[in-house]
Amino acid sequence: MVEQEEVLRVEELRTYFYTQEGVVRAVDGASFAVKRRKVLGIVGESGCGKSVAAQSILRIVPPPGRIVGGKILYQRPLDGEKMGSAFETVDLTELHPRGPEIREIRGGEISMVFQEPMTSLDPVYTVGDQIMEAITLHQKVNRREARLRAIDMLDQVGMPRPEETVDSYPHQLSGGMRQRVMIAIALSCHPSLLIADEPTTALDVTTEAQILDLMRNLQQQMGTAIIYITHNLGVIAEMCDDVAVMYLGKVVEQADVDAIFYNPKHPYTQALLRSIPRIGQKTKKRLEPIKGIVPDPYAIPQGCPFWPRCAHVMPDLCDQVPPDYVPVAPNHSVRCHLYRQEKI
Ligand SMILES: Nc1ncnc2c1ncn2[C@@H]1O[C@H](COP(=O)(O)OP(=O)(O)OP(=O)(O)O)[C@@H](O)[C@H]1O
Ligand SMILES: [Mg+2]
Repeated sequence: MVEQEEVLRVEELRTYFYTQEGVVRAVDGASFAVKRRKVLGIVGESGCGKSVAAQSILRIVPPPGRIVGGKILYQRPLDGEKMGSAFETVDLTELHPRGPEIREIRGGEISMVFQEPMTSLDPVYTVGDQIMEAITLHQKVNRREARLRAIDMLDQVGMPRPEETVDSYPHQLSGGMRQRVMIAIALSCHPSLLIADEPTTALDVTTEAQILDLMRNLQQQMGTAIIYITHNLGVIAEMCDDVAVMYLGKVVEQADVDAIFYNPKHPYTQALLRSIPRIGQKTKKRLEPIKGIVPDPYAIPQGCPFWPRCAHVMPDLCDQVPPDYVPVAPNHSVRCHLYRQEKI
């Protein structure tokens, strides 16, 4: 069931790639929920399936990838009224990936900012043309009006001299400015949900801080919900209201940001937190790397995928039986045998 206050609920999503070498279970039982007007962070090591989960929501998983199970329940505003109060639930996994409904939703209601803006911006068109294209694709406005809106969006994302930059080509702008353009494109249709996949990874730390500020401010002004994908727990602490922790295609824990940082339940989340420096840490303890390596995606271990690296592994259980995803407190769920018995 989707709660009224959620904009998106992903249930046991499975997206596999059928390659010649075998099946890559990129997303293999991911469940998480995004609340309206809130920021959900998705964190996890490289290759754990964060980007493929995002591609699944937008139905842009490239072949040989396919969604093979689960649901992506989107609360779609009725009558195109973006911030209205009436919604219908649409399971995005059931839509045709090139059909009219997902094309309306993608870019218009759910939009995305990628890691490397140069690959998503077209080098032969001006940034203004590209923002205007996004606006006219989903809204009935003429070119003059679209251009004014494009300039206004550039102004809102902090672009200097927007009346002039609107006619620049992507290569004339710095990496940070290009990412601002991407954010302008993504927000130009006032989406209900923005998916940002490592949008600041290619930027220096000062520019990263500016972009994070900008996204947080626009998010609060416009009331857009955001899925913010990153491997950086510092960014999670700064940006997010809720956090989903992924490991090998599964969400192993979801909770609000304070519970994740101060009361993490899953041994993987606990290990992840011990592996980063924290300001105010009193003891002079060494940082602990997580022992072992992320297993080969073609050979994910049986049972709980984290057991070979887990300090609390219970023989004959964790290496045999996959744990269920269970609530341990309101708004806090964990996929680990240690919490099998707990009830709210
Ligand atoms: N087009 C593809 N074909 C085959 N396998 C793929 C494809 N795209 C992703 N994968 C595999 O799916 C798994 C998850 O990849 P994904 O890109 O979602 O990881 P990620 O969590 O986004 O990592 P990163 O932090 O490095 O971006 C990986 O094992 C990856 O090799
Ligand atoms: Mg990725």
